[in-house]
Amino acid sequence: MINVTKTYLPDKEKYKKYVDQIYASGWVTNRGPLVKELEQRLAEYLGVKNIVLVANGTVALEIAYRTLDIKDYVITTPFSFVATTSSLVTNGLKPVFADINPNTLNIDPQNIKNSITKNTSAIVPVHVFGNGCEVEEIEKIVKENELKLIYDAAHAFDVKYKGQSILNYGDISTLSFHATKLFHTIEGGALIINDESLVEKARYLINFGIENQESIPELGTNAKMNEFEAAMGLALLDDMAMVGDKRHAVYDRYKQALKGEVKFQQQNKDASVNYSYFPIILENKKQMERVQEALNHFDIHPRRYFYPSLNTLSYIEPKQNMPVSEDISKRILSLPIYPELTIKEQSKIISVIQEAL
Ligand SMILES: Cc1ncc(COP(=O)(O)O)c(C=O)c1O
Repeated sequence: MINVTKTYLPDKEKYKKYVDQIYASGWVTNRGPLVKELEQRLAEYLGVKNIVLVANGTVALEIAYRTLDIKDYVITTPFSFVATTSSLVTNGLKPVFADINPNTLNIDPQNIKNSITKNTSAIVPVHVFGNGCEVEEIEKIVKENELKLIYDAAHAFDVKYKGQSILNYGDISTLSFHATKLFHTIEGGALIINDESLVEKARYLINFGIENQESIPELGTNAKMNEFEAAMGLALLDDMAMVGDKRHAVYDRYKQALKGEVKFQQQNKDASVNYSYFPIILENKKQMERVQEALNHFDIHPRRYFYPSLNTLSYIEPKQNMPVSEDISKRILSLPIYPELTIKEQSKIISVIQEAL
């Protein structure tokens, strides 16, 4: 069976060395030494100042909204994983969708502008499949309208914009370190907080709002990463260059073989590519289903990332029409991409797709 992704596991002995440290200290959670070490190493690796590790990418978004005191209406993209929208709704916020650019698949800045009202408090764009948003234009809109800006950067690990980490844009960027992601800690996530003065608040929020034994200044939750998860991240971090190279090779082979036959996501020219996904856009739903069925027949399982368009979720009231996102979501497939995918397996995937087209 070939799935859309396969979790990369680092060398077992290397992981065990970190686990031995946990056994020796007996410290398994509550911001232990490995979480602190991973925060420091990731900050250096990614080129960011303040990083707070958390239990997953969904709570990273929720903590970001609460750190910035986001209220009422939030403009976001309809084309993303469900957590981008559900995290808003579960925090009592109201998503207002702004449709995407059909080529980049990212939220269209012009549509953001058109959606702003006096009740808008924040914008939550997504760097979809790691493709950098139009960050300078979005920043301008945010400044002109005095809004907060949170990037859901779940897919954008190590993406650079004009040579600097794209995670440094916005008030906060959030990452997911789920096992399916480019870099993972089994389950996990992070907040990149650009205003240093908010870091302490975020740290209280992920630990029940507690400052110390005498003081609980915030209404918090439990969103902490544990030491075993941090150990996985530390063991994996050294392998990221190799993981990137292997994914790059898979990415290039798809691009070469399928050029002219299917549509690709248009990449931001000023941003680097992290090779985390390989989406193809088919002509219509029928063609997408034909390709999907043909691949499934050989036990190959691409994913319909992202479907359905989030504006159509049952709990979104009143209904909002997003024609571009709805159209794309019906005819997009993410193809298998991971370091261990062999040339032989990939050749099979490509030939099945070509045949089905
Ligand atoms: C765009 C996006 N946002 C948020 C999340 C949620 O992250 P997690 O699964 O770590 O909670 C995901 C996860 O796949 C995602 O793709």
